[in-house]
Amino acid sequence: MTTELDSLADLETAALRDLNAATDARVLDEWRIAYLGRKGRLTQLLRTLPQLPIDQRREVGSRGNDLKQRLEQEHGRRLEVLEQRRIERVIESERLDVTLPGPPLSRGRLHPITQTTRDMLAIFTGMGFQVIEGPEVEWDRYNFEALRIPADHPARDMWDTLWIDHEVDGRRPMLMRTHTSPNQVRFMEQHEPPIRIVVPGKCYRFEATDATHEWMLTQIEGLAVDEGISLTDLKGTLADFARQMFGHDRRVTFRCSYFPFVEPGMEISIDCFLCRGAGCRTCHYGGWIEILGAGMVHPEILTNMGYDADRYTGFAFGVGIERIALLRYGVDDIRHFYANDLRFLSQF
Ligand code: FA5
Repeated sequence: MTTELDSLADLETAALRDLNAATDARVLDEWRIAYLGRKGRLTQLLRTLPQLPIDQRREVGSRGNDLKQRLEQEHGRRLEVLEQRRIERVIESERLDVTLPGPPLSRGRLHPITQTTRDMLAIFTGMGFQVIEGPEVEWDRYNFEALRIPADHPARDMWDTLWIDHEVDGRRPMLMRTHTSPNQVRFMEQHEPPIRIVVPGKCYRFEATDATHEWMLTQIEGLAVDEGISLTDLKGTLADFARQMFGHDRRVTFRCSYFPFVEPGMEISIDCFLCRGAGCRTCHYGGWIEILGAGMVHPEILTNMGYDADRYTGFAFGVGIERIALLRYGVDDIRHFYANDLRFLSQF
């Protein structure tokens, strides 16, 4: 009898020790199986009861059942303690410290070409020009023919063209506009002088790229038509624009040039920001960077628009925004603007 009772006492000590050592639900379950399961230690011990002499069987049986009940209660208690601890741990780990600073927000910014476009438009609207827009997919008629560049005219070579289609509804072909000049015609068709407009927008050219040439470029077209407008107005407007954009220390040069829709025509360049005129890769060793083409609106175009060319005169210009941005920010290659490299773009 002493042996069985001793075994029960030993089992109780071991079971309670192991129970207190159990730190999670899985170990606790293993404990329950090891002591109270069908093949558990207490169950095994109680199974030996029938072999005991009758007088011992009762006492050992009664103590064994008490122990079983106690272990079941202790198991339940331990389970509660562990569950409580688990909940506390979760609460602790999910605690929100409202005094901590939040994660930094990455702020977006405007693309340098958008910023430059807006600044340029602000200068022109300050001079009294109105901002309008036109389509990027254009008819041959507006991009070329109405600008005095018929199909076989060699001046077409000046604008390497991305064609959309060769014939639409029997009309002349469509193309990605190569410049913003078609908007001169579009606007004059619909309006009478006096006209003072600027037209910003993307243009597309089928040409090889280099440090100052992209296949997609942005221009601002300018057009002023009124009585008494002269070349002096054109020069004054553009010189004033250059001064407002770049400050007084930049050198501006006007050079004769040819565009079929103006007479006379000119190109305006600014001294290269990198070499200041000495010549470098960015300015193709010329010392100057051309920023715009301009001229007096050809009288034939005014007449075609139904205006009296003896009464009205006008000037027009087309300025490349990427070139202005190159000069303004000191960027050495135009292709950076559309390479979508955030290390570059986040500097502006
Ligand atoms: C024209 O596009 C004429 N429509 C400009 C004009 C308007 C003349 C009104 C007279 C009257 P041009 O092809 O030179 O001209 O381009 C004008 C400006 O666009 C250039 O001075 C330059 O600043 C910019 N540009 C031209 N080609 C590119 C290019 N591939 N990449 C970036 N900028 C360009």
